[in-house]
Amino acid sequence: MNGKVALVTGGSRGIGAATALRLAADGFDVALTYVQGKEAAEDVVRRIEGLGRRGLAVRADSADAGEATDAVTLAADRLGRLDVLVNNVGIGVLGPLEGLSLADVDRVLAVNVRGVFLASQAAAEVMGEGGRIITIGTCMAKRVPGPGGTLYAMSKSALIGLTKALARELGGRGISANIVHPGPIDTDMNPADGPYAAGQAQMTALGRYGTADEVAAAVAYLAGPAATYVTGAELAVDGGHAA
Ligand SMILES: NC(=O)c1ccc[n+]([C@@H]2O[C@H](COP(=O)([O-])OP(=O)(O)OC[C@H]3O[C@@H](n4cnc5c(N)ncnc54)[C@H](OP(=O)(O)O)[C@@H]3O)[C@@H](O)[C@H]2O)c1
Repeated sequence: MNGKVALVTGGSRGIGAATALRLAADGFDVALTYVQGKEAAEDVVRRIEGLGRRGLAVRADSADAGEATDAVTLAADRLGRLDVLVNNVGIGVLGPLEGLSLADVDRVLAVNVRGVFLASQAAAEVMGEGGRIITIGTCMAKRVPGPGGTLYAMSKSALIGLTKALARELGGRGISANIVHPGPIDTDMNPADGPYAAGQAQMTALGRYGTADEVAAAVAYLAGPAATYVTGAELAVDGGHAA
């Protein structure tokens, strides 16, 4: 992968940081976006550089249409090209239907759906043959195991449609689009010692949380040379949550 460039949105922590580091270990130069954690983002960049690759942290709020698009263009400009986009940013606003405000609806759709669409559109503009668009969905996109997930599930299931449509739209140019559905993964968003963790672990066949590295490995497969004939696919990395 030496000489190839990846952009991971939300790469300062959690699944995004693990993915950025795994792609760097596989030989990619890696740009990442963040919105609040400048120091954490810069630390990931230092670790990417420690692996001998170029790294770039870009402050870009996916909720802002201009920033979501500009981050892609900036990464491609600064690192010289773009081969892989990992649409990792996502927020979880969970809770009873009656408690969700219009602002909640707009924010979740802006970050989880519109930002992903705009980043993918901008990436498609600069990617060449062999480009890969990889989006992080969720095991809740297709099967919602309990109440409180209306906004999150709605937004993430939209990404399945987007992924399949992108695969059709961009296949003729040799660009693939795939989506990874993580199960419960131990991150700040969903800590394995959180109040709802035991129930989530029980819903998996393996009976445990996954790690950010386990999701990053699947993204690395989709970004790498073994996945040249894989597009429009959904890959569950969920410990058997959907089994
Ligand atoms: N953890 C799970 O159990 C799980 C399960 C299924 C799917 N997922 C999905 O996996 C993805 C990553 O989740 P995670 O658990 O790693 O999340 P996380 O621990 O909350 O990390 C989120 C990352 O995204 C960045 N970010 C948040 N809002 C942003 C915005 N508006 N614009 C730009 N960057 C933003 C954060 O940066 P700052 O700190 O700088 O804001 C951080 O780097 C999400 O799409 C999530 O829905 C997670």
